[in-house]
Amino acid sequence: AAVTRYEAEDATISRGAVESDHPGFTGTGFVNYDNLTGSYVDWTVDSPQARTVTLTLRYANGTTTDRPMDISVNGTVISTARPFNGTGSWTSWATNTLTVSLAAGNNHIRATATTANGGPNVDSLTVDDQAPPATDWS
Ligand code: GCU
Repeated sequence: AAVTRYEAEDATISRGAVESDHPGFTGTGFVNYDNLTGSYVDWTVDSPQARTVTLTLRYANGTTTDRPMDISVNGTVISTARPFNGTGSWTSWATNTLTVSLAAGNNHIRATATTANGGPNVDSLTVDDQAPPATDWS
């Protein structure tokens, strides 16, 4: 299966900051959502065809309070107030995985904070095309 990682720091950020003070992230940093409802990260994911993929959001939440986010694909919320529970510390990164349908061409995948605490710190979005492994005819 082809797996592609899209860093949060390279995505479109609304009311959040790229930071790097909590180790364990991939790329050059992570997004610290502003502590308010509606802050978001929006990734552009190009898909060669309409298909089902597995999305994995990598995040840290150093509090003991859930930081839920709406997950939308092309403007349609497909997971409402999805929980991003505490991970124990800001340097403990966890993953949250869901299956979605992508259209052919550019898709917008957005994770929007739904509480005044904002989102967790978000490191990346990984897209797995779920294709079976290629057959080795050798
Ligand atoms: C701390 C932490 C940040 C985090 C913030 C928050 O300031 O260092 O990385 O984003 O808490 O609660 O959102």
